Amino acid sequence: MPSPAPPFFRKRDLQVRLDGKTAVVTGGARGIGAAICVALAREGAKVVVTDVRETEGFALVEQMRVNGTQSLFVQQDVTLEEGWIEVCGRALDAFGGLDILVNNAGIALPGTIETQSLADWRRTMAINLDAVFLGTQAGVRAMRSKGGSIINISSIEGMIGSAYLPAYNASKGGVRLLTKSAAIHCARAGYRIRINSVHPGYIGTQMVQDALALLPEDFAGRTLERIPMQRFGAVEEVASTVVFLASDESSYMTGSELVVDGGLLA
Ligand SMILES: NC(=O)c1ccc[n+]([C@@H]2O[C@H](COP(=O)([O-])OP(=O)(O)OC[C@H]3O[C@@H](n4cnc5c(N)ncnc54)[C@H](O)[C@@H]3O)[C@@H](O)[C@H]2O)c1
Repeated sequence: MPSPAPPFFRKRDLQVRLDGKTAVVTGGARGIGAAICVALAREGAKVVVTDVRETEGFALVEQMRVNGTQSLFVQQDVTLEEGWIEVCGRALDAFGGLDILVNNAGIALPGTIETQSLADWRRTMAINLDAVFLGTQAGVRAMRSKGGSIINISSIEGMIGSAYLPAYNASKGGVRLLTKSAAIHCARAGYRIRINSVHPGYIGTQMVQDALALLPEDFAGRTLERIPMQRFGAVEEVASTVVFLASDESSYMTGSELVVDGGLLA
């Protein structure tokens, strides 16, 4: 009697991909950030959720705890350098380290080169770019000895221009190249830290809804027509990309950029 073929895998060999890892996610209280927190937790990570939005942040963490996840909320304004020391310290104290950092917090303030105010430009730069610099720097310091994965949420708007988003375009383009510079440095220094950027297209979140309300009425319809997959993306479709970059499955990827846009840039 021929013996039966070995099973493809045994149940006991199944592993969640981020078991034992600790993650910090900025802007985690809602939208793409909240989906990233849940997706990382589902793969076994302990999650430090940070945001300026206290109520939503605590509510998310409570919901994650009910579902059996170890997570905590830290109120953080990502633009403040001293806050980064506290966030990394809380990850270390509560969960023993920092393995994954997702710089997700961001804003989009529409305008054109003729109408965008300097105040809006500076605010956009502070949150979308300066804070990613501060976060990446803090993450590298915290991960230098043991390694880790830093994921910076840029946008397709960091790769192509839009007449309506000059400050956003500039900030997200900055995130794309800052990511590459930091990635090269860490690889050459022999740190086991990988740093990559994610570039979502149009994802149905409050940010997009708020921005669309300020843009010409037919903008949403015209945008939809340009997307080959003919729909806006879901937050979970960005989150699963982040899980991949956080996990060892992407172990040979650093300084790279993953586009999640339904084919728009293609
Ligand atoms: N929604 C999209 O279509 C889309 C597309 C490409 C890129 N992105 C990027 O994805 C990220 C998340 O966007 P979203 O659509 O979920 O937006 P969102 O507005 O729903 O969520 C952003 C979160 O960031 C937080 N935040 C803002 N300023 C902060 C600060 N100073 N400190 C800490 N937290 C702060 C907000 O409180 C909010 O919870 C952003 O970086 C955004 O630029 C979004």
